[in-house]
Amino acid sequence: MNVTEAIKTRISVRAFKPDPIPEALVREILDVARFAPSGGNLQPWKVIAVAGAERDAVVALARANLPGDEGERLVYPANLWEPYRTRRYKLGEDMYAKLEIPRENKGARLMHLAENFNFFGAPVGLFFVIEKAMGHGQWAHLGMFMQSVALTAIERGVQSCMQEAWARVRTPLAAHFSLRDEEMIYCGMALGYADTAKPVNALRSDRAEVDEIAEFRGF
Ligand SMILES: Cc1cc2nc3c(=O)[nH]c(=O)nc-3n(C[C@H](O)[C@H](O)[C@H](O)COP(=O)(O)O)c2cc1C
Repeated sequence: MNVTEAIKTRISVRAFKPDPIPEALVREILDVARFAPSGGNLQPWKVIAVAGAERDAVVALARANLPGDEGERLVYPANLWEPYRTRRYKLGEDMYAKLEIPRENKGARLMHLAENFNFFGAPVGLFFVIEKAMGHGQWAHLGMFMQSVALTAIERGVQSCMQEAWARVRTPLAAHFSLRDEEMIYCGMALGYADTAKPVNALRSDRAEVDEIAEFRGF
């Protein structure tokens, strides 16, 4: 698999098979991803990987603490504006169309959202930790690391879904993992093998065209 294939085949998988991923494979993925770039080579990231009983413990922790709250670091800015508002809305509608859950069936939509807190059935969960005092640059660099994890995983046939949903239970998770006060969990990531029979995995999200996102000057 080349880089282009990896970028284009990585999608957010939202239904996994229970088949386990050995620790050695998760280690191998992180061993590659750690070569992601970061300003000043700070490498402002830490990962907590959970499987088996540890995975089940965080799933139970989330269930006991939901709905939770996002705290001060909102996942999206308040009153999202265009074109972002429409893009977000479209993703949700496209996803629920695949799941055949109409807008009126709020209960079923919430049930699907709640699956985030079961890693969509994936056998492995990753939590990405950053120091609270880090600036916007380091948050961006953490994102590069996360994409590197996802791309390295897909090269090995392992699918993923990044999950900022876990932000809702940041505080109990931090206590569970005995994080230092200076640290926080930014995001989760489900890792596993896609259940390709599940309609939600047929979703392919839209992207803006190059001319919408780029300007070319001086060519
Ligand atoms: C940092 C980050 C957090 C995300 N959090 C969630 C999440 O909590 N739950 C979810 O279902 N998808 C989540 N996503 C997936 C996005 O919805 C998805 O990346 C986007 O719609 C593009 O689709 P694709 O990943 O299939 O290409 C997240 C993506 C990113 C980059």
